[in-house]
Amino acid sequence: MNNARLTIGEREISLPVIIGTENETAIDVSKLREQTGVITLDDGFANTGSCTSSITYIDGDKGILRYRGYPIEELAEKSTFVETAWTIIWGRLPSSDELRRFSMLLTEHELLHEGLRHHYNGFPVDAPPMAILSAMINSMSCYHHELLRIQDDEGLFEEAAARLISKVRTVAAAAYKMSMGRPLIYAVPEYGYVHNFLHMMFSLPNRPYTADPDIVKALNLILILHADHEQNCSTSTVRMVASGGANLFASVSAGVCALWGHLHGGANQAVVEMLEKIRTEHCSVRDFVEKVKRKENGVKLMGFGHRVYKNFDPRSQILREIARKILQKQGQSDEILDIAQELADLALHDDYFIQRKLYPNVDFYSGIILRAIGIPLMVNPPAAFK
Ligand code: ACO
Repeated sequence: MNNARLTIGEREISLPVIIGTENETAIDVSKLREQTGVITLDDGFANTGSCTSSITYIDGDKGILRYRGYPIEELAEKSTFVETAWTIIWGRLPSSDELRRFSMLLTEHELLHEGLRHHYNGFPVDAPPMAILSAMINSMSCYHHELLRIQDDEGLFEEAAARLISKVRTVAAAAYKMSMGRPLIYAVPEYGYVHNFLHMMFSLPNRPYTADPDIVKALNLILILHADHEQNCSTSTVRMVASGGANLFASVSAGVCALWGHLHGGANQAVVEMLEKIRTEHCSVRDFVEKVKRKENGVKLMGFGHRVYKNFDPRSQILREIARKILQKQGQSDEILDIAQELADLALHDDYFIQRKLYPNVDFYSGIILRAIGIPLMVNPPAAFK
């Protein structure tokens, strides 16, 4: 099938058909207006790709997610975030030399310019972390003029990617430290990516943080599972801003803002708030589910449903097991996780959710894990975690 035929009134036109690597079929409507004067309407981009891409493959009905052809389950088990990031960027697994070189670049770029550090003084202590993150990423464009116009120069691209991936964790950890009124902690070059983030978050000048390998693994996993997800809200925002020629930092900063929303990346915060509310108000899980079904005050089962996954989200299945393990290891109460499990069990057997194909998504468990590790969630004032 090379073409699709479209009839508009008396007119029939032919549109090119694009076949993906897994035989997915798309109709290319980019010349439709030129040919007919007609545009397409697709409210909320429910069924529109804005470009062809060979990065991520999702089969929402079968619950399949692959980055560059590698199943997410395999990457979750065998890879690290840094290796996965390299794979996503360059399209294949790195050799050990390539991985070492990229890790060295990450180390090289882990510090913040002192000028940037002073920006933190302008934020109130209870500033939302996502506001700080997007502002700081955008501010990086003031310090790296050579990276504002990257064309196809491979060297510069690799450096820009490493700089951004490396500094994001420094910016996030510094925001946390400032909110707590504690001194910033510098990265240790010998530590791995995730270990270093935890060190910058939780070490004190006289009290180094000892990283538990299970926690390092859990955080690696969360980063791997969130590393890419097709043309979703935040990725599309980055692409949209960049398409006008805006620089890398400005584009990614816009993506952070898009991710902030509670229907997207902010859902993990919303899930924890929902579970806490059920717990503190002693609301029965069954009553809560009924409220959701009645759409009372627009209440939703946060962490449920997905634009693409209509059977199960493979990422949530991976995180469910890790959540239980981390909570047990931390000696923390499993009450929140028990409520989550009861909610999931009820919803998965309820016609309302079955008919609408609503299943737990990645955010259903990620917030529980982050909270257990001690990482404040997005919109809570960090001071609340003192
Ligand atoms: N709880 C209760 N009902 C829901 C939920 C939910 N979480 N999600 C969708 N529905 C219902 C809608 O009310 C609607 O019902 P109706 O047919 O009676 O009107 C039906 O299911 C279809 O809903 P849509 O909003 O059209 O579904 P869509 O695929 O556009 O939305 C979304 C996907 C935004 C993720 C939605 O399921 C949702 O709001 N979920 C909760 C927020 C969440 O967990 N977001 C994280 C997604 S993962 C990520 O972004 C990293």
